[in-house]
Amino acid sequence: MKFKIKSICCIGAGYVGGPTMSVIADRCPDIKVNVVDINLERINAWNSKNLEDLPIYEPGLKEIVSRCRGRNLYFSTDLENNIKNADMIFISVNTPTKTKGVGAGMASDLKWVEASARQVATYSSNHTIVVEKSTLPVRTAEVIKKILFSVESNSKADRKSFEVLSNPEFLAEGTAINDLEKPDRVLIGGESKEAMDALTRIYLNWVPKNKILHTNIWSSELAKLTANAFLAQRISSINSIAAICEATGAEVKEVSRAIGTDNRIGSKFLNSGPGFGGSCFKKDILNLVYLSKYFGLEEVSVFWESVVKLNNWHQHRISKLIVTSLFGTVTGKKICILGFAFKADTNDTRESSAINICKDLLDEGAILFINDPKVNSDQIAKDLGLLETDILNLDEGNWYFAENMDIGFDNADAVVILTEWDEYSKINWKEVSKKMRKPGWVFDSRSIISDKSLNGSELNLWRIGGGSKIKNY
Ligand code: NAD
Ligand code: UGA
Repeated sequence: MKFKIKSICCIGAGYVGGPTMSVIADRCPDIKVNVVDINLERINAWNSKNLEDLPIYEPGLKEIVSRCRGRNLYFSTDLENNIKNADMIFISVNTPTKTKGVGAGMASDLKWVEASARQVATYSSNHTIVVEKSTLPVRTAEVIKKILFSVESNSKADRKSFEVLSNPEFLAEGTAINDLEKPDRVLIGGESKEAMDALTRIYLNWVPKNKILHTNIWSSELAKLTANAFLAQRISSINSIAAICEATGAEVKEVSRAIGTDNRIGSKFLNSGPGFGGSCFKKDILNLVYLSKYFGLEEVSVFWESVVKLNNWHQHRISKLIVTSLFGTVTGKKICILGFAFKADTNDTRESSAINICKDLLDEGAILFINDPKVNSDQIAKDLGLLETDILNLDEGNWYFAENMDIGFDNADAVVILTEWDEYSKINWKEVSKKMRKPGWVFDSRSIISDKSLNGSELNLWRIGGGSKIKNY
């Protein structure tokens, strides 16, 4: 008999849980989808009347939430009842790098996953399929199973039983809705054909069958870490080439285009930038490094760790070259930072390269005016570990939130583009130049501004991987 899923509960209403469950609710109107979280503030934000106040900014998300919320999509802090009534439970909680104890700085901290498994063990009733949505180290399913199976029961009065599946998420922030609606693939790892088929039937509501891959559970867990490691490796590779371009006069964009036309290499993920950020690349590679070390594969761990090391070096390389270009000192100089999010179209700043680059410049005594269309000043203060200073009291090593870009340009010595927001590629540099102190600099770490837009501006331009010449317009 087919196991029909009528009610889903997702533990974790974050960047993955929220959008993923919204799309499932949208595409499966017959399934009731409850998203639960221990964070009341976050749940209240998901339930806010004004859709501009949802806790996550993702293009296309608010339209789906407005269609489904209250119909078959609910956000709540009631873990007990929603777990109890669910046929299928997704665990989509955070899995950051451990900060202390064994494996600190490398291994994933699984305390939230373990807590979720214990909540499921306590509150569930009947047969429940538990799906790992979080990114997890290989063999985590074993831990979840041990916790769940310790409460499995054969008694008729209390018929708890479980199946555990791995169904990692491959969405990228900023394009989450499109990635969920048209995924390259959906990966399902498990041992029970019945449970895998039940999850497959959910996705078949909108994903073609040939894009739904079945593997064993360990391959599925490892494939997720591997995908992120390969993507991050491409960025470190092209950023290393950008440094060679700057030293030799080659142009990294031209090199990317030239190698990207080779079908075996492909053209995606070859944009040189300020280094990769985001909550996952670094954490997932470090997880792979830890696993390799744990299994005695020292050379493998060194290989993957170098991807993270190159990324750190690259971020500091950018702050150093800004200081060097401004006559070796930025003390007391005003620098306008454009973009704080780790990429465009998201309000997420986790591991954003802007954090390290801004911290370096503040340490050097610069006065930063920071603008971002979606990140607020509280978040920036938290990331920099430094409160914003009132505009009238600004001094060396302080920063101010420039809600309006123009205030950042006035008398600035440099403008540094760190996130590729569309509006930054449309700036009128001739006008901006009039407001800046001379010699004025633009540092374009995303390579988004055209030579044409700078013509006649009297500005110096440094562009990532942009050949040996600093251009003077
Ligand atoms: P997040 O921090 O945005 O959200 C996690 C949520 O889980 C938080 O709101 C937290 O309060 C909640 N939570 C933690 N423990 C809980 C518990 N015991 N009961 C109820 N709620 C609990 O994290 P995220 O970005 O959504 O990532 C979740 C997982 O998905 C991670 O493993 C991550 O690696 C993976 N992932 C993330 C992305 C991404 O783009 N962010 C993409 C693919 C995979
Ligand atoms: C990444 C993966 O792309 C997703 O498949 C994965 O699900 C997710 O991690 C995860 O597991 O969390 P995300 O971090 O949201 O998604 O965003 P990406 O588009 O991958 O960008 C990551 C970082 O790399 C950003 O800082 C971005 O600016 C940078 N990047 C990306 C480049 O510098 N150059 C590129 O060519 C592409």
